[in-house]
Amino acid sequence: MKTIFSGIQPSGTITLGNYIGALKQFVELQREYNCYFCIVDQHAITVPQEKQVLRQNIRSLAALYLAVGIDPEKATLFIQSEVPAHAQAGWMLQCVAYIGELERMTQFKDKSAGKEAVSAGLLTYPPLMAADILLYNTDLVPVGEDQKQHLELTRDLAERFNKKYNDIFTVPEVSIPEVGARIMSLQDPLKKMSKSDPNQKAFISLLDPPKTIEKKIKSAVTDSEGIVVYDKENKPGISNLLTIYSIFTNQAVSEIVKQYDGKGYGEFKLDLAKVLIETIEPIQNKYHDLMESNLLDEILDRGAEKANYTANKTLKKMEKAMGLGRKR
Ligand code: AQP
Repeated sequence: MKTIFSGIQPSGTITLGNYIGALKQFVELQREYNCYFCIVDQHAITVPQEKQVLRQNIRSLAALYLAVGIDPEKATLFIQSEVPAHAQAGWMLQCVAYIGELERMTQFKDKSAGKEAVSAGLLTYPPLMAADILLYNTDLVPVGEDQKQHLELTRDLAERFNKKYNDIFTVPEVSIPEVGARIMSLQDPLKKMSKSDPNQKAFISLLDPPKTIEKKIKSAVTDSEGIVVYDKENKPGISNLLTIYSIFTNQAVSEIVKQYDGKGYGEFKLDLAKVLIETIEPIQNKYHDLMESNLLDEILDRGAEKANYTANKTLKKMEKAMGLGRKR
């Protein structure tokens, strides 16, 4: 059976973007693959986090993974910092990566732009991400489009390590959804929807109450034309909403466009809010049950145990290949 690894940062509550680009794929793929799904808390601290909020976000993200349909009997769900091999292997891969290639990462450029105090971790996080993936002999990494560049770097680092030291890593393939790989901000449809966006109206979180979802959709930036058609270049706002509608209803965009022929944005937006609430409300109910049960900790303990076992085996091979420690 082939292996999948993917992670999400507990840097806020997951958005529709994270759900469509990542989680939804995870649920579909878990039947056919040996899956490792990770709460990458060490990635989250590359930008400042408040201790209590981070703790809460970690637990909350774990519950959301399960509430959307990750089955802990099929997939291994765990927290990155509970598997020390990630940071150890991440260091080794930092020593394989070049500063120049890290500085070229667009996410680094975006997140550091205009900031005075930028952590070194923000620059060196892609090799940690590579370690996350490579420790599990991962064949496939399902992610949204924004992570494509980091995945290309992961492949480069794996190939470089294999060539220079020993051929131990599987070079992973990337899986990016055909539709919904880049869900855009509701307030600026030229910008990616992000869970850490300071403007709350820019994203819908999976834990937003139904009324808030409705309000955010109603206030989503569109254009003054009032015609529901898909035109990403000239009408990015309504096109983004059409993509979301299509994913949540399994309807083709062309069909939806026909359905709203002669109707305005108001009616379309109201229906979209309804469609979203119908899917999100049951997820929220499951989420609240999980947050109140002991099951969540049991699942994360079991996940950490299994992940530690697999990751340590690869770590030992890496140390041996690089000549670390005393054992031959
Ligand atoms: N807007 C998006 N559309 C589709 N997929 C998306 N992903 C993120 N945003 C979108 C995918 O979600 C997964 C988890 O992402 P992450 O938490 O590791 O970090 P990120 O990519 O930086 O996501 P955010 O929401 O923008 O987080 P912050 O605000 O903390 O930087 C990944 O598979 C990602 O591609």
